[in-house]
Amino acid sequence: MTTTANASDRVVIFDTTLRDGEQCPGASMTLEEKLEVAELLEEMGVDVIEAGFPIASVGDFESVQEIARRAKKSIIAGLARAIPGDIARAGEAVRVAQRGRIHTFVSTSPIHLEHQMRKSQEQVLDIIAATVAQARNLVDDVEWSAMDATRTPLDYLARCVEAAIKAGATTINLPDTVGYATPEEYGHMFRTMIEKVPNADRVIFSTHCHDDLGLAVANSLAGVASGARQIECTINGLGERAGNAALEEVVMALRTRGDVLPYATGVEATMLTRASKLVSAVTSFPVQYNKAIVGRNAFAHESGIHQDGMLKNATTYEIMTPASVGVTKTSLVMGKHSGRAAFRDKLRELGYQLGENAFEDAFNGFKALADRKKHVYDEDIEALVDQEIALASD
Ligand code: KIV
Ligand code: ZN
Repeated sequence: MTTTANASDRVVIFDTTLRDGEQCPGASMTLEEKLEVAELLEEMGVDVIEAGFPIASVGDFESVQEIARRAKKSIIAGLARAIPGDIARAGEAVRVAQRGRIHTFVSTSPIHLEHQMRKSQEQVLDIIAATVAQARNLVDDVEWSAMDATRTPLDYLARCVEAAIKAGATTINLPDTVGYATPEEYGHMFRTMIEKVPNADRVIFSTHCHDDLGLAVANSLAGVASGARQIECTINGLGERAGNAALEEVVMALRTRGDVLPYATGVEATMLTRASKLVSAVTSFPVQYNKAIVGRNAFAHESGIHQDGMLKNATTYEIMTPASVGVTKTSLVMGKHSGRAAFRDKLRELGYQLGENAFEDAFNGFKALADRKKHVYDEDIEALVDQEIALASD
């Protein structure tokens, strides 16, 4: 890659939980809740917090403004359509921030131009030039997004990006708005823009991926490998339809696979679990049990083979430590797949010391119970072992 900004190995983490995440049906948050989430994101080291869409409602405007007023380190962004009134309102909301950003966007794909905007390609180019210039007159930090970039012909997309850079954009975001791209296509788009567009080295390129095909994180990483240096993401992958790229997955993929993805973020990963729990609580959106990094099973093992390996050395079945994401410990879940090693370990944890015969009887009793019961709790095991001990002493 030939660019200055994009040649850096630091990836800017842009969190949009409070904007794209909140657009998810049923996930709206109160002002107090948004302030709490923003405070945690900033403490966690998130570089840019997209606090909302100021023109959308008075409540949105006020929350963006209040978050902007309180932020000390993070850049606070307000979203605006390519409409002068939107941009003015976003500018007013972020003006109080120590570091404010206007994020303005317009659709560029033929599908959107024909069916939604009813504008020609030339008209959209004029709109980009005028609206980015307006935003740049209000703040120094302007992000421009090509909505539905991944369904836009690359030659036209390059003209749009060029117009935005010329008008003063400092970050260029190329969203996979409908979650349609594959990693290869998404990476190719960034490489093409960075190589072809004049002055591409003066801006930071950004990814913004939706998860309709379950590819949001893979696409974001492909974008970075191809020169993007900002990833837009949300806590728990909250967002429109199937959601956005999950911040915790992006951060841990970059940390865990630095050997093939040598890019750093400023995020304190040990706070990821706390952030996930907070966002789940304030939005009332449960986190799926098997969700990567923050799901309750992410560090749980039930299979006997896996439990045996874990008891010998955790690296046998864990590629990152629970502590690295803020989880206190691995859990060996007792169930019908558990073996003798895990059962012995559990008995030790519960304070039992059985002789070999009693242990075998207790283990057989446990296996029979686990076949009948979905969850075997510590209390079940205690009852079973106490029964064995009583029988043995009769
Ligand atoms: O998905 C998208 O295209 C967006 C833009 C507003 C950036 O959320
Ligand atoms: Zn989006």
